[in-house]
Amino acid sequence: MLVNGTHHRSIWRDAQNGAVRILDQRWLPHRIDIATLKSLDDFATAIRDMWVRGAPLIGATAAYCIAEQMARDPSDAALVHAVDVLNATRPTAVNLRWALHRCQSELQPLDPTQRSDAARALAEEVADEDVEINRNIGVHGLELIRKISATKPDGAPVNIMTHCNAGWLATVDWGTATSPIYHAYDAGLPVHVWVDETRPRNQGALTAWELGQHGVPHTYVVDNAGGHLMQHGQVDILITGTDRTTASGDVCNKIGTYLKALAAHDNGIPFYVALPSPTIDWTAQDGLGEIPIEERSGDEISQIHGRGPDGTDLANVTVTPEGTNTGNPAFDVTPNRLVTGLITERGICDASAGGLAALFPDRVE
Ligand code: MRU
Repeated sequence: MLVNGTHHRSIWRDAQNGAVRILDQRWLPHRIDIATLKSLDDFATAIRDMWVRGAPLIGATAAYCIAEQMARDPSDAALVHAVDVLNATRPTAVNLRWALHRCQSELQPLDPTQRSDAARALAEEVADEDVEINRNIGVHGLELIRKISATKPDGAPVNIMTHCNAGWLATVDWGTATSPIYHAYDAGLPVHVWVDETRPRNQGALTAWELGQHGVPHTYVVDNAGGHLMQHGQVDILITGTDRTTASGDVCNKIGTYLKALAAHDNGIPFYVALPSPTIDWTAQDGLGEIPIEERSGDEISQIHGRGPDGTDLANVTVTPEGTNTGNPAFDVTPNRLVTGLITERGICDASAGGLAALFPDRVE
């Protein structure tokens, strides 16, 4: 998608020297900073400390990491070590496990002399596939927006609410929840996006930044405003992303998603989840019981990160009394009964075992 009018992916290989580059999301939306990742420690830190984030991008970053490590040391021991280290970085987004399993199962059987080239090609394949999956989510999701648009007076926008950043910054390109929005905007449909701030880390600022780069009208609101906006008819549809969706359609996503789904249900507003197939955990049925929820540092709660008054420096500002106890569960689970539908790369289905199995008969375990 666009950064200052130029097309970018969130992770890529440098055309000159092949180095792995990322848009370092610690500094967005205030500063555009590109980081180079080389060592296993670089990659693990970038995922753990959220220089890159969002389930699909975490998976792609892991694949690039394996490629870099295999170029240095293609031994069995190095492969297993890299997989173990990366697997421990963030527990909830299943795309990490998915990408590492794919790398390991394709590379392990090879002779070590073949692993570097194969891993490099595999990382590109994972990244390119992600782009295509998300593009297709957009094509299917566009039809939902088109239908709502047809019910509106001429020129009135479809009001879409989203939570967290499930945009192109959370994937390799397009985004998941934002892909239908970009497709609708590019097709000339009037759209307006309510962007949830998404405390504590304010990923909504990333969503606002990328929508702004593309010219999509949007309004940034605090998380607590969602219910009020829904009660007053100002939201036509919600579309969020997901970090892990069970085979039965329970959706784990950024903390606060469940409250949005409850309010949508109470107000009869469709609540859709954009779901790339690598985010489906076919081994899990019960979202509440089987998905590990990441608990992050209390510093994310007691402090807010942003641009300082002089406009250049980025600073952390403390908001709580010194020594306050904090709790920071990073994700929650929305039961499938609250989800109107899942927008996948193969089409839209019910959030149910039957719905997912009908679209993915080849993947059901
Ligand atoms: O903690 P984060 O920023 O990695 O969480 C991201 C989300 O919750 C996204 O909604 C999810 O990964 C879907 S991204 C297409």
